Amino acid sequence: MTITAPPAPANAALSPFETGPGTPAGRYLRSFWQPIRLSTDLPAGTATPIKVMGERFTLYRGTGGKAHVTQPGCPHRRTMLSLGNVEGDSLRCMFHGWRFGEDGRCEEAPGQGPTLLKRQRVRVYPTHETYGVIFAYFGEGEPPRFHDIAGFSKKHGRDMTSALVRDTGTYKRGCNYYINVENALDLAHVAYTHKLSSDPSITEVGFDPGVIRVRDVTVERMDFGIRAVEVEHESDPVISTVMLPNAMHLLVPQRDGWLEQVAWRVPVDDESHYSIQITAMHTDEAGKERFEAYQARKADLIAKYPSTDECATAILRGEKTLFDFADHPDLVNIEDHVAQMGMQWIDEPGKENLAQSDKAVLQLRRMFVSRLGDFVAGTPVGDSDW
Ligand code: FES
Ligand SMILES: [Fe+2]
Repeated sequence: MTITAPPAPANAALSPFETGPGTPAGRYLRSFWQPIRLSTDLPAGTATPIKVMGERFTLYRGTGGKAHVTQPGCPHRRTMLSLGNVEGDSLRCMFHGWRFGEDGRCEEAPGQGPTLLKRQRVRVYPTHETYGVIFAYFGEGEPPRFHDIAGFSKKHGRDMTSALVRDTGTYKRGCNYYINVENALDLAHVAYTHKLSSDPSITEVGFDPGVIRVRDVTVERMDFGIRAVEVEHESDPVISTVMLPNAMHLLVPQRDGWLEQVAWRVPVDDESHYSIQITAMHTDEAGKERFEAYQARKADLIAKYPSTDECATAILRGEKTLFDFADHPDLVNIEDHVAQMGMQWIDEPGKENLAQSDKAVLQLRRMFVSRLGDFVAGTPVGDSDW
């Protein structure tokens, strides 16, 4: 995988790019609920290892359906708890069978004395599951109020709860999460990066061809982040908002109506991230039928290709071009993958030349660093309108 390293920040102490344990941005991101997995990707009674912000954890779903997150290793001999067996809402280590409850207490340790049970426990993290997504809280103390997704959509979008089509999605990308956070406000990229996927003579799904236009944007400063609104197109402007620190909301026309999306860009580590999206299609019955028919064929189309990451890597190596993936259901993603992973910051740190069309990106950087500074100084976060 091609790795794109973060650029050198102007103020290294308040870098948005580094999110490992104990880093300022890492602590900042950990003070918000973060999505960790699509609900459909975690069957009941299974456990799996996950990595978020440079830290490993165990994610499992109890046989009754509740999702749990614990520290990665067993306190006994430290093997991975994700290898273990789920029993009700407890997890039994596969090595020597110690069993830990959903509150982290050791409930059973075969062949050991009773005092051991009192002493041994694993760290557990709060979870919340909604809209088909599992969220966790990795910060200190009590978690903040959960994001008001429906309320936000009613106030700032088109009311996702009334959309005929709702969907979730996820992908992993080999570049720093903050590159993708900023990308949400870089509306100038759409006309070029997504030129192929927006051409209905070549592709079956994608943005409305009308979005292939270069427009200036108005930048709005909100309490919770920055919003970019296309100007000269008041009737149906593309609107994109970043909700600090790492969430976004997008309204963009698709061929069958309007796409509304709430997404989070979450660091796996400082060189890669995953995105989790909750999507609504504001369309009519005919559009819904077309969407569902396409969904039914999508799995076959995806099966023709290697993973999105591998497709992007082949393009970055010069072995393929975007045209080779014209019927790939994830073409929009592959386009963003290559543009973002192709950023050559690894060779020339800090050598970008931001221009007029980057004004929203620039305002976001200033606001991110300013809020990060407030957070480091002790201002509570996570209780705004978002
Ligand atoms: S390592 Fe888990 S029970 Fe021994
Ligand atoms: Fe894009």
